[in-house]
Amino acid sequence: MSQFPASSALDLFRCDGRVALVTGASSGLGERFARVLHAAGATVVVAARRLDRLESLVADLPGAIAIQADLSEAEDRERLASEAERLAGPVRILVNNAGIGGVGGIESEELDLFRRVMELNVTAVWHLSKLCAPAMIAAGGGSIINIASMLGHVGATPVKQANYCASKGAVVNLTREMALQWARKLVTVNALCPGWFPSEMTEGMESDEGSQRFITANSPIPRMGEAHELDGALLLLASAAGTFITGQSLIVDGGWTAR
Ligand SMILES: NC(=O)c1ccc[n+]([C@@H]2O[C@H](COP(=O)([O-])OP(=O)(O)OC[C@H]3O[C@@H](n4cnc5c(N)ncnc54)[C@H](OP(=O)(O)O)[C@@H]3O)[C@@H](O)[C@H]2O)c1
Repeated sequence: MSQFPASSALDLFRCDGRVALVTGASSGLGERFARVLHAAGATVVVAARRLDRLESLVADLPGAIAIQADLSEAEDRERLASEAERLAGPVRILVNNAGIGGVGGIESEELDLFRRVMELNVTAVWHLSKLCAPAMIAAGGGSIINIASMLGHVGATPVKQANYCASKGAVVNLTREMALQWARKLVTVNALCPGWFPSEMTEGMESDEGSQRFITANSPIPRMGEAHELDGALLLLASAAGTFITGQSLIVDGGWTAR
């Protein structure tokens, strides 16, 4: 067997010539995902509600396009999918990243919050995937990466978050079913499931002593993740390096769920 040059293996992770749509790219993990996909050669389309944040991001990423959209609104999801295709071409990499959650015990959890979390974290993932898949399939396939969470696999308490856990568990199994339905159409669908990472969602945890004690006591790798520690997992699932991986959860959590 001839020796496989390492440079060819690394080339598999490139995303040149592909259009990547990243939702929730105005902050946190989504902004990082957009930067990483751009660095790997993709034409990046970013979406969220805060247009000013998206515009300063695309100013850094030549060729990138910003589209303002409230992903909890069906009409905005429809407009986003058609605008992205009109402006950039068929989406070949879809990163369903926009997400929210609320903390508090079930007794005090508002029905409206639970519904809003499910609408954005689950329904929007299903809907945007459904809207982007036909063009992706017609273009020869692609990859859908649903940003779930380690909390799609385990409960959160003592951080009480029934709404969030329910939504991320749903995303994990929605991912499996979408993967099965589209496997023969050359669309891979996987869930990327982070543990604790600094972002607006986890704001304050980094500097809060109690949170840090909680993480060091419970996480086998006793710290929060660092932004770059999701880059490799994202590119694996987005690129030719991952074309035989589908329906899976890639959990990047410092071992939290291995316990
Ligand atoms: N950070 C962690 O520790 C962690 C762990 C596991 C999973 N995750 C998941 O990672 C994803 C990103 O979260 P993050 O930690 O980066 O938090 P973040 O900084 O709060 O980012 C959330 C993103 O979602 C967008 N968003 C919220 N509501 C939206 C709406 N209605 N329409 C469109 N966009 C909306 C926000 O943009 P606008 O406000 O501008 O709309 C923002 O860009 C989420 O799905 C989250 O559940 C995070």
